[in-house]
Amino acid sequence: MNFNMNDIIYKKREGGELSPEEIKWWIDGYVKGEIPDYQVSALLMAIFFRGLSREETYTLTAAMRYSGDTVDLSSIKGIKVDKHSTGGVGDKTTLVVAPLASACGVPIAKMSGRGLGFTGGTVDKMESIPGFRTVLEPDEFLNQVNDIGMAVMGQSGHITPADKKLYALRDVTSTVDNFGLIASSIMSKKLAAGSDAIVLDVKCGAGAFMENLDDAITLADLMVDIGYDAGRRTVACITDMNQPLGKAVGNALEVQEAIDTLKGRGPEDITELSKKLAGIMVYLGGRAVSPEQGYEMASQALEGGMGLTQIRRFIEAQGGNGDIVYDYSMFPQPKFSLELKADRSGYVKTIKARQIGLASQKTGAGRETKEDEIDLSAGIVLNKKVGDKVVEDEVLATFYGNDLRKVKDGLEEAKSAFEISDEEVTRPELIKEIIGL
Ligand code: URA
Repeated sequence: MNFNMNDIIYKKREGGELSPEEIKWWIDGYVKGEIPDYQVSALLMAIFFRGLSREETYTLTAAMRYSGDTVDLSSIKGIKVDKHSTGGVGDKTTLVVAPLASACGVPIAKMSGRGLGFTGGTVDKMESIPGFRTVLEPDEFLNQVNDIGMAVMGQSGHITPADKKLYALRDVTSTVDNFGLIASSIMSKKLAAGSDAIVLDVKCGAGAFMENLDDAITLADLMVDIGYDAGRRTVACITDMNQPLGKAVGNALEVQEAIDTLKGRGPEDITELSKKLAGIMVYLGGRAVSPEQGYEMASQALEGGMGLTQIRRFIEAQGGNGDIVYDYSMFPQPKFSLELKADRSGYVKTIKARQIGLASQKTGAGRETKEDEIDLSAGIVLNKKVGDKVVEDEVLATFYGNDLRKVKDGLEEAKSAFEISDEEVTRPELIKEIIGL
């Protein structure tokens, strides 16, 4: 069937519901390069304002899932469990959770994405390890999981090419934070990637695409339904993203913090969340009789150093030097660093995660256009978290990068992200809700 893209844009702009045929047609045309970016940008903006119905979201997910190859993981023994975050600031959990879950015997064959908007992406982070390959041949990927228990690669161009193109376009057209677009983007990839079960970390708060709990629940429900509908056990954890997760934001800085966490000396929030998510994965992977037992197993893998051994093997299997886990000077080093100091004493009340994400992007750690090269050494390390006591002139955060002007811009952007109050502040609850267990 043939449609006209202008009519489709108009229909959505006026609040109409697109038919399954129309959705399949424009996804197909976009992947083939027959429909230009500018028309798809206009449609995305119309979708952003008008939304997608559940039916439209289901059809869009399926159209994107089958827009390219799908992965067959049947040659990997065991129940494969995937994990995906809806995107946050300082969210390096994959690099902790995947080694922990695989150390507990759950095969992890994961595809990850790049940074989107003010949020970071695992592929960019992994590329800060010199020599690390994020592009693997299909056989190599499968063999690595059978050999060492885990592999994480960038989303291959042949798998959900529709999402690959749309993701990059949404990133630069301010059309990311929409239920249907996020749900279809994530679930099309997860379904095409072939794992048997999926754990979703739905970020909620000022530094997430979903700013309030009701919206996060709506998104989580939608994705859990799409997963079950496709025959995959799917669990969503709604977790706090009002302040950055952990203390490091930026690519090499976050990988170092993930390794620290596997050494048992990471920040409390990232440590706790990683054990929780890994525990659910261990349970869904059939290695524990309950999520609680899974949590215990993940905790032991962390404390016993099995998770650290696992990330080391993983780095080596994908071309990096495993000794980097003991020698951080092997990471790209920033030329400049600047400190932001507290202008008064008190308790840290707020660290606006979105603003810290934008500030990190400004230091050079994120992209402003699709083509931008990122500075892998750039970013921010917080010295304080919400609830911490601070005295005047104490360092709140340090900003890093290779371009002094950008580092200064990042620092300027972050200044108003911190709020300090006279009263003591309770630490925010990390895990707000679990859906689908
Ligand atoms: N992560 C994704 O993979 N897609 C989105 O749209 C948002 C976060």
